[in-house]
Amino acid sequence: MQALVRCLDLFCGAGGASLGLCRAGFDVTGVDINPQPRYICRKFIRGDALAQDLTGFDFVWASPPCQHYSGMSGCRNGLRETYPDLIGPVRDMLTTWGGPWIIENVMGAPLRNPVVLCGEMFGLKTYRHRQFESNLPLTAPPHPGFRKNKSLFIFIKKGWLARFVHTRLTFPAKVSKKP
Ligand SMILES: C[S@@+](CC[C@H](N)C(=O)[O-])C[C@H]1O[C@@H](n2cnc3c(N)ncnc32)[C@H](O)[C@@H]1O
Repeated sequence: MQALVRCLDLFCGAGGASLGLCRAGFDVTGVDINPQPRYICRKFIRGDALAQDLTGFDFVWASPPCQHYSGMSGCRNGLRETYPDLIGPVRDMLTTWGGPWIIENVMGAPLRNPVVLCGEMFGLKTYRHRQFESNLPLTAPPHPGFRKNKSLFIFIKKGWLARFVHTRLTFPAKVSKKP
């Protein structure tokens, strides 16, 4: 039997990325600094991803915390700086290691030559974009798009319809209150 590719999922959380990697046939070990009692795969190491020994792994996936780069962190002065900026240190660590790796993060994160993927590219009803940087060549499937616009259009139409019905129902009552 062929041995599975040994994959390390750094910053694994409960294992959203780990699950995809398992489904793709990888033998996954997750690493997170916090306990993850609901971690989805069997092998979990609690510890600092940046101190992790990468020896013996064939592939490393890393999803460093995104709050430092997220648009939401711009909503209050100084908030962004309260979150760690780990992409540079993670890239340095993976480059020094030398094996194949992918770093995933939100739009706006300083990834180099990233590929952008969207849930809709994979048939999901999720119009959400994420960036992926790698030392492997990555390509993206075609982006079907427009679902967001379509639902916005339906929302506008429904909003207009609701306002129309609301006006028709309430206007006579308002008129009758006038002297
Ligand atoms: C973006 S979430 C991970 C989401 C996960 N990859 C998924 O697909 O569900 C970031 C995770 O990094 C963890 N984390 C933050 N700093 C860490 C560190 N220095 N070492 C390891 N894990 C860390 C957090 O506990 C959190 O679970």
